[in-house]
Amino acid sequence: MGEPNDMTQQGPGFDVNCMTLTRFVLQEQRKFKHATGDLSQLLNCIQTAIKAIASAVRKAGIAKLFGIAGEINVQGEEVKKLDVLSNELFINMLKSSYTTCLLVSEENETVIEVETEKRGKYIVCFDPLDGSSNIDCLVSIGSIFAIYRKQTEGEPQVADALQPGRNIVAAGYALYGSATAMVLCLGPGSGVHCFTYDPAIGEFILTEHNMRVPEQGKIYSLNEGYSATWDEGLKAYISAKKDGPKPYGARYVGSMVADVHRTIKYGGIFIYPATKSAPNGKLRLMYECNPMSFIITQAGGKASNGKIDILDIVPQKIHERSPVFLGSKKDVEEALSYQK
Ligand code: AHM
Ligand code: MG
Repeated sequence: MGEPNDMTQQGPGFDVNCMTLTRFVLQEQRKFKHATGDLSQLLNCIQTAIKAIASAVRKAGIAKLFGIAGEINVQGEEVKKLDVLSNELFINMLKSSYTTCLLVSEENETVIEVETEKRGKYIVCFDPLDGSSNIDCLVSIGSIFAIYRKQTEGEPQVADALQPGRNIVAAGYALYGSATAMVLCLGPGSGVHCFTYDPAIGEFILTEHNMRVPEQGKIYSLNEGYSATWDEGLKAYISAKKDGPKPYGARYVGSMVADVHRTIKYGGIFIYPATKSAPNGKLRLMYECNPMSFIITQAGGKASNGKIDILDIVPQKIHERSPVFLGSKKDVEEALSYQK
Protein backbone atom coordinates (compact mmCIF):
# COMPACT_ATOMS: atom_id res chain seq x y z
CA MET A 1 0.00 0.00 0.00
CA GLY A 2 1.34 3.42 -0.91
CA GLU A 3 1.24 6.55 1.17
CA PRO A 4 -2.27 7.93 1.66
CA ASN A 5 -3.15 10.51 -1.02
CA ASP A 6 0.06 9.96 -2.97
CA MET A 7 -1.84 9.62 -6.26
CA THR A 8 -4.57 12.13 -5.67
CA GLN A 9 -2.90 15.07 -4.02
CA GLN A 10 -2.97 18.32 -6.00
CA GLY A 11 -0.44 20.12 -3.87
CA PRO A 12 -0.68 23.64 -2.54
CA GLY A 13 -2.01 26.47 -4.63
CA PHE A 14 -5.08 24.74 -6.04
CA ASP A 15 -7.90 26.97 -4.86
CA VAL A 16 -10.81 24.82 -3.80
CA ASN A 17 -12.97 27.81 -2.96
CA CYS A 18 -12.25 30.27 -5.75
CA MET A 19 -14.42 33.31 -6.45
CA THR A 20 -15.68 32.83 -9.97
CA LEU A 21 -17.49 35.59 -11.81
CA THR A 22 -20.74 33.61 -11.66
CA ARG A 23 -20.39 33.13 -7.92
CA PHE A 24 -19.57 36.80 -7.42
CA VAL A 25 -22.63 37.92 -9.36
CA LEU A 26 -24.88 35.58 -7.36
CA GLN A 27 -23.38 36.84 -4.12
CA GLU A 28 -24.00 40.46 -5.14
CA GLN A 29 -27.55 39.62 -6.19
CA ARG A 30 -28.28 38.33 -2.67
CA LYS A 31 -27.66 41.86 -1.33
CA PHE A 32 -30.86 43.00 -3.07
CA LYS A 33 -33.90 41.59 -1.30
CA HIS A 34 -36.20 42.01 -4.28
CA ALA A 35 -33.80 40.88 -7.00
CA THR A 36 -35.41 38.44 -9.41
CA GLY A 37 -32.14 36.97 -10.63
CA ASP A 38 -32.67 38.42 -14.11
CA LEU A 39 -29.51 40.51 -14.05
CA SER A 40 -27.46 37.51 -12.94
CA GLN A 41 -28.94 35.46 -15.76
CA LEU A 42 -28.20 38.24 -18.23
CA LEU A 43 -24.60 38.55 -17.06
CA ASN A 44 -24.18 34.80 -17.31
CA CYS A 45 -25.24 34.89 -20.93
CA ILE A 46 -22.86 37.77 -21.68
CA GLN A 47 -20.13 35.76 -19.99
CA THR A 48 -20.84 32.82 -22.29
CA ALA A 49 -20.65 35.06 -25.36
CA ILE A 50 -17.33 36.45 -24.13
CA LYS A 51 -15.86 33.00 -23.46
CA ALA A 52 -16.78 31.94 -26.98
CA ILE A 53 -15.37 35.15 -28.50
CA ALA A 54 -12.15 34.68 -26.48
CA SER A 55 -11.84 31.17 -27.85
CA ALA A 56 -12.32 32.41 -31.42
CA VAL A 57 -9.88 35.30 -30.88
CA ARG A 58 -7.30 32.83 -29.55
CA LYS A 59 -7.91 30.89 -32.77
CA ALA A 60 -8.94 27.78 -30.89
CA GLY A 61 -10.18 25.29 -33.42
CA ILE A 62 -8.21 27.10 -36.07
CA ALA A 63 -9.41 24.88 -38.90
CA LYS A 64 -12.99 25.72 -37.98
CA LEU A 65 -12.28 29.42 -38.20
CA PHE A 66 -10.04 29.41 -41.22
CA GLY A 67 -10.05 26.07 -42.88
CA ILE A 68 -6.55 24.83 -43.50
CA ALA A 69 -5.98 27.69 -45.89
CA GLY A 70 -8.48 30.17 -47.05
CA GLU A 71 -11.99 31.42 -46.86
CA ILE A 72 -13.82 28.11 -46.60
CA ASN A 73 -13.41 26.04 -43.46
CA VAL A 74 -13.11 22.28 -43.27
CA GLN A 75 -16.87 21.83 -43.13
CA GLY A 76 -17.09 23.75 -46.38
CA GLU A 77 -18.81 26.66 -44.65
CA GLU A 78 -17.89 30.19 -45.51
CA VAL A 79 -15.70 31.57 -42.75
CA LYS A 80 -17.25 34.21 -40.57
CA LYS A 81 -15.18 37.22 -39.77
CA LEU A 82 -14.43 37.56 -36.07
CA ASP A 83 -16.52 40.71 -35.69
CA VAL A 84 -19.55 39.11 -37.37
CA LEU A 85 -19.18 35.98 -35.27
CA SER A 86 -18.86 38.04 -32.07
CA ASN A 87 -21.96 40.04 -32.92
CA GLU A 88 -24.02 36.92 -33.57
CA LEU A 89 -22.82 35.39 -30.30
CA PHE A 90 -23.81 38.49 -28.32
CA ILE A 91 -27.22 38.74 -29.98
CA ASN A 92 -28.06 35.05 -29.62
CA MET A 93 -26.91 34.83 -26.00
CA LEU A 94 -28.69 38.05 -25.02
CA LYS A 95 -31.96 37.04 -26.65
CA SER A 96 -31.88 33.58 -25.12
CA SER A 97 -31.30 35.00 -21.65
CA TYR A 98 -35.03 35.90 -21.57
CA THR A 99 -34.09 39.14 -19.79
CA THR A 100 -33.75 41.70 -22.60
CA CYS A 101 -36.17 43.54 -24.86
CA LEU A 102 -33.97 45.82 -26.94
CA LEU A 103 -30.38 45.54 -28.12
CA VAL A 104 -28.09 48.16 -29.64
CA SER A 105 -24.99 46.82 -31.39
CA GLU A 106 -22.22 48.69 -33.13
CA GLU A 107 -22.65 46.19 -35.96
CA ASN A 108 -26.37 46.79 -36.57
CA GLU A 109 -27.70 49.94 -38.12
CA THR A 110 -31.01 49.84 -36.23
CA VAL A 111 -32.02 48.62 -32.78
CA ILE A 112 -32.69 44.90 -32.44
CA GLU A 113 -36.07 44.07 -30.95
CA VAL A 114 -36.19 40.84 -29.00
CA GLU A 115 -39.06 38.47 -29.95
CA THR A 116 -42.08 38.98 -27.66
CA GLU A 117 -41.88 35.54 -26.06
CA LYS A 118 -38.25 36.05 -25.05
CA ARG A 119 -38.58 39.56 -23.67
CA GLY A 120 -37.39 40.85 -20.32
CA LYS A 121 -36.86 44.28 -18.79
CA TYR A 122 -33.27 45.05 -19.80
CA ILE A 123 -31.76 46.96 -22.70
CA VAL A 124 -28.17 46.16 -23.66
CA CYS A 125 -25.87 48.38 -25.75
CA PHE A 126 -22.68 46.65 -26.89
CA ASP A 127 -19.68 46.66 -29.14
CA PRO A 128 -19.09 42.95 -29.67
CA LEU A 129 -15.50 43.29 -30.88
CA ASP A 130 -13.84 46.66 -30.58
CA GLY A 131 -10.48 47.55 -32.09
CA SER A 132 -11.13 46.00 -35.48
CA SER A 133 -7.97 47.44 -37.01
CA ASN A 134 -5.96 45.41 -34.48
CA ILE A 135 -7.57 42.03 -35.20
CA ASP A 136 -5.33 40.92 -38.06
CA CYS A 137 -2.05 41.85 -36.37
CA LEU A 138 -2.96 40.06 -33.08
CA VAL A 139 -2.91 43.18 -30.91
CA SER A 140 -5.36 43.30 -27.98
CA ILE A 141 -9.03 43.80 -28.75
CA GLY A 142 -12.14 43.81 -26.57
CA SER A 143 -15.90 43.67 -26.09
CA ILE A 144 -17.84 46.43 -24.31
CA PHE A 145 -21.39 46.47 -22.89
CA ALA A 146 -23.80 48.62 -20.88
CA ILE A 147 -27.07 47.41 -19.37
CA TYR A 148 -30.10 49.65 -18.81
CA ARG A 149 -33.61 49.11 -17.49
CA LYS A 150 -36.52 49.87 -19.80
CA GLN A 151 -38.18 52.91 -18.24
CA THR A 152 -41.61 52.75 -19.87
CA GLU A 153 -44.43 50.28 -20.34
CA GLY A 154 -45.39 49.07 -23.79
CA GLU A 155 -43.60 47.96 -26.92
CA PRO A 156 -39.85 48.59 -26.91
CA GLN A 157 -38.84 51.50 -29.12
CA VAL A 158 -35.62 53.28 -30.05
CA ALA A 159 -36.45 56.02 -27.53
CA ASP A 160 -36.17 53.43 -24.73
CA ALA A 161 -32.51 52.92 -25.59
CA LEU A 162 -31.62 56.61 -25.72
CA GLN A 163 -30.81 56.90 -22.03
CA PRO A 164 -27.88 58.82 -20.52
CA GLY A 165 -25.00 56.82 -19.06
CA ARG A 166 -26.12 57.86 -15.56
CA ASN A 167 -28.94 55.32 -15.89
CA ILE A 168 -26.58 52.38 -16.40
CA VAL A 169 -27.51 49.40 -14.21
CA ALA A 170 -24.29 47.49 -14.88
CA ALA A 171 -21.47 47.74 -17.38
CA GLY A 172 -18.32 45.91 -18.28
CA TYR A 173 -15.76 44.98 -20.83
CA ALA A 174 -13.70 41.99 -21.86
CA LEU A 175 -10.08 42.42 -22.87
CA TYR A 176 -8.59 39.77 -25.12
CA GLY A 177 -4.99 40.63 -24.30
CA SER A 178 -2.00 38.63 -23.07
CA ALA A 179 -4.66 37.10 -20.82
CA THR A 180 -8.43 37.38 -21.12
CA ALA A 181 -10.01 39.55 -18.45
CA MET A 182 -13.49 40.81 -17.69
CA VAL A 183 -13.93 44.03 -15.78
CA LEU A 184 -17.34 44.58 -14.31
CA CYS A 185 -19.28 47.14 -12.30
CA LEU A 186 -22.65 45.94 -11.00
CA GLY A 187 -24.06 49.38 -10.27
CA PRO A 188 -23.16 52.71 -8.70
CA GLY A 189 -21.21 52.25 -5.49
CA SER A 190 -20.60 48.54 -5.94
CA GLY A 191 -17.03 48.88 -7.15
CA VAL A 192 -15.12 47.82 -10.24
CA HIS A 193 -13.77 44.30 -10.24
CA CYS A 194 -11.44 42.39 -12.53
CA PHE A 195 -11.82 38.69 -13.31
CA THR A 196 -9.14 36.81 -15.24
CA TYR A 197 -9.99 33.80 -17.35
CA ASP A 198 -8.51 30.51 -16.17
CA PRO A 199 -8.56 28.20 -19.20
CA ALA A 200 -7.84 25.20 -16.96
CA ILE A 201 -11.32 25.39 -15.44
CA GLY A 202 -13.05 27.55 -18.03
CA GLU A 203 -14.00 30.22 -15.51
CA PHE A 204 -13.30 33.89 -14.87
CA ILE A 205 -11.69 34.22 -11.43
CA LEU A 206 -11.72 37.36 -9.30
CA THR A 207 -8.19 38.75 -9.50
CA GLU A 208 -8.71 42.36 -8.48
CA HIS A 209 -11.38 43.53 -6.10
CA ASN A 210 -12.34 47.20 -6.09
CA MET A 211 -9.97 48.60 -8.73
CA ARG A 212 -9.17 52.30 -8.33
CA VAL A 213 -7.80 54.62 -10.99
CA PRO A 214 -4.72 56.40 -9.58
CA GLU A 215 -5.53 60.04 -8.84
CA GLN A 216 -2.83 61.09 -11.28
CA GLY A 217 -0.72 59.18 -13.77
CA LYS A 218 2.29 59.68 -16.01
CA ILE A 219 0.90 58.56 -19.35
CA TYR A 220 -1.02 60.30 -22.12
CA SER A 221 -2.80 58.22 -24.72
CA LEU A 222 -4.21 59.54 -27.98
CA ASN A 223 -3.54 59.23 -31.70
CA GLU A 224 -0.78 61.76 -32.15
CA GLY A 225 -0.79 61.30 -35.91
CA TYR A 226 -3.81 63.59 -36.04
CA SER A 227 -2.20 66.41 -34.01
CA ALA A 228 -2.54 68.90 -36.87
CA THR A 229 -6.33 68.60 -36.57
CA TRP A 230 -6.50 69.22 -32.79
CA ASP A 231 -7.83 72.43 -31.28
CA GLU A 232 -5.38 74.84 -29.66
CA GLY A 233 -6.32 73.75 -26.12
CA LEU A 234 -5.46 70.14 -26.79
CA LYS A 235 -2.23 71.07 -28.56
CA ALA A 236 -1.18 73.17 -25.57
CA TYR A 237 -2.09 70.43 -23.07
CA ILE A 238 -0.13 67.72 -24.86
CA SER A 239 2.86 70.06 -25.29
CA ALA A 240 2.76 70.72 -21.56
CA LYS A 241 2.79 66.96 -20.88
CA LYS A 242 5.78 66.47 -23.15
CA ASP A 243 7.82 69.50 -22.32
CA GLY A 244 7.28 69.71 -18.56
CA PRO A 245 10.00 68.95 -16.01
CA LYS A 246 8.67 65.39 -15.72
CA PRO A 247 7.47 64.44 -19.20
CA TYR A 248 4.64 61.96 -19.50
CA GLY A 249 5.11 58.72 -21.42
CA ALA A 250 3.05 58.13 -24.58
CA ARG A 251 1.09 54.89 -24.94
CA TYR A 252 -1.56 54.22 -27.58
CA VAL A 253 -2.71 50.73 -28.48
CA GLY A 254 -5.53 51.87 -30.76
CA SER A 255 -8.00 49.52 -29.04
CA MET A 256 -10.13 51.49 -26.62
CA VAL A 257 -10.51 48.57 -24.21
CA ALA A 258 -6.74 48.09 -23.94
CA ASP A 259 -6.05 51.81 -23.61
CA VAL A 260 -8.75 52.23 -20.94
CA HIS A 261 -7.70 49.12 -19.03
CA ARG A 262 -4.12 50.40 -18.87
CA THR A 263 -5.44 53.78 -17.73
CA ILE A 264 -7.33 52.13 -14.85
CA LYS A 265 -4.26 50.13 -13.84
CA TYR A 266 -1.50 52.72 -14.28
CA GLY A 267 -3.37 56.03 -14.38
CA GLY A 268 -3.02 58.86 -16.87
CA ILE A 269 -5.35 60.09 -19.56
CA PHE A 270 -6.96 58.62 -22.67
CA ILE A 271 -8.30 61.07 -25.24
CA TYR A 272 -10.17 60.69 -28.48
CA PRO A 273 -10.81 64.32 -29.32
CA ALA A 274 -13.01 66.19 -31.71
CA THR A 275 -11.19 67.20 -34.86
CA LYS A 276 -12.05 69.67 -37.59
CA SER A 277 -13.34 66.98 -39.89
CA ALA A 278 -14.94 64.94 -37.08
CA PRO A 279 -16.42 67.46 -34.65
CA ASN A 280 -17.74 64.64 -32.44
CA GLY A 281 -14.60 62.53 -32.56
CA LYS A 282 -14.75 58.89 -33.59
CA LEU A 283 -15.88 56.87 -30.61
CA ARG A 284 -19.53 55.96 -30.14
CA LEU A 285 -21.39 57.25 -27.11
CA MET A 286 -23.77 54.42 -26.34
CA TYR A 287 -21.52 51.35 -26.47
CA GLU A 288 -17.98 52.72 -26.25
CA CYS A 289 -17.84 56.00 -24.30
CA ASN A 290 -20.72 55.39 -21.86
CA PRO A 291 -19.81 51.95 -20.48
CA MET A 292 -16.12 52.89 -20.24
CA SER A 293 -16.94 56.23 -18.59
CA PHE A 294 -19.24 54.50 -16.10
CA ILE A 295 -16.45 52.11 -15.12
CA ILE A 296 -13.79 54.83 -14.96
CA THR A 297 -16.08 57.01 -12.83
CA GLN A 298 -16.99 54.16 -10.49
CA ALA A 299 -13.27 53.43 -10.10
CA GLY A 300 -12.68 57.01 -8.94
CA GLY A 301 -11.63 58.55 -12.27
CA LYS A 302 -13.33 61.10 -14.50
CA ALA A 303 -14.79 61.10 -18.01
CA SER A 304 -15.83 64.15 -20.01
CA ASN A 305 -16.60 65.14 -23.58
CA GLY A 306 -14.58 68.33 -23.04
CA LYS A 307 -17.56 70.24 -21.65
CA ILE A 308 -19.77 67.97 -19.57
CA ASP A 309 -19.49 64.53 -18.03
CA ILE A 310 -19.97 61.82 -20.65
CA LEU A 311 -22.58 60.18 -18.41
CA ASP A 312 -24.79 63.29 -18.53
CA ILE A 313 -25.13 63.33 -22.31
CA VAL A 314 -28.64 62.43 -23.45
CA PRO A 315 -28.18 60.52 -26.71
CA GLN A 316 -30.18 61.60 -29.71
CA LYS A 317 -29.22 58.73 -32.01
CA ILE A 318 -28.05 55.21 -31.24
CA HIS A 319 -24.79 55.50 -33.17
CA GLU A 320 -23.87 59.04 -32.20
CA ARG A 321 -20.25 59.85 -31.46
CA SER A 322 -18.64 61.85 -28.70
CA PRO A 323 -15.22 63.28 -28.01
CA VAL A 324 -13.83 61.70 -24.85
CA PHE A 325 -11.29 62.62 -22.18
CA LEU A 326 -11.08 59.94 -19.50
CA GLY A 327 -8.78 58.62 -16.82
CA SER A 328 -7.13 59.88 -13.63
CA LYS A 329 -9.16 62.67 -12.09
CA LYS A 330 -6.33 65.19 -11.88
CA ASP A 331 -5.13 64.49 -15.41
CA VAL A 332 -8.61 64.87 -16.89
CA GLU A 333 -9.25 68.04 -14.91
CA GLU A 334 -5.97 69.49 -16.14
CA ALA A 335 -6.74 68.61 -19.77
CA LEU A 336 -10.19 70.20 -19.40
CA SER A 337 -8.69 73.40 -18.01
CA TYR A 338 -7.01 73.83 -21.41
CA GLN A 339 -10.33 73.41 -23.20
CA LYS A 340 -11.79 76.68 -21.91
P1 AHM B 1 -13.78 50.24 -34.20
O1 AHM B 1 -15.07 50.25 -33.45
O2 AHM B 1 -13.94 50.36 -35.67
O3 AHM B 1 -12.90 49.10 -33.79
O4 AHM B 1 -13.03 51.61 -33.80
C1 AHM B 1 -12.88 51.94 -32.47
C2 AHM B 1 -11.42 52.00 -32.13
C3 AHM B 1 -11.18 52.16 -30.66
O5 AHM B 1 -11.00 50.92 -30.03
C4 AHM B 1 -9.91 52.97 -30.63
O6 AHM B 1 -9.80 53.71 -29.46
C5 AHM B 1 -10.02 53.83 -31.84
O7 AHM B 1 -10.88 53.15 -32.73
C6 AHM B 1 -8.72 54.09 -32.55
O8 AHM B 1 -8.93 54.94 -33.63
P2 AHM B 1 -7.74 55.57 -34.49
O9 AHM B 1 -7.18 54.46 -35.30
O10 AHM B 1 -8.37 56.64 -35.28
O11 AHM B 1 -6.73 56.13 -33.51
MG1 MG C 1 -15.94 49.84 -31.75
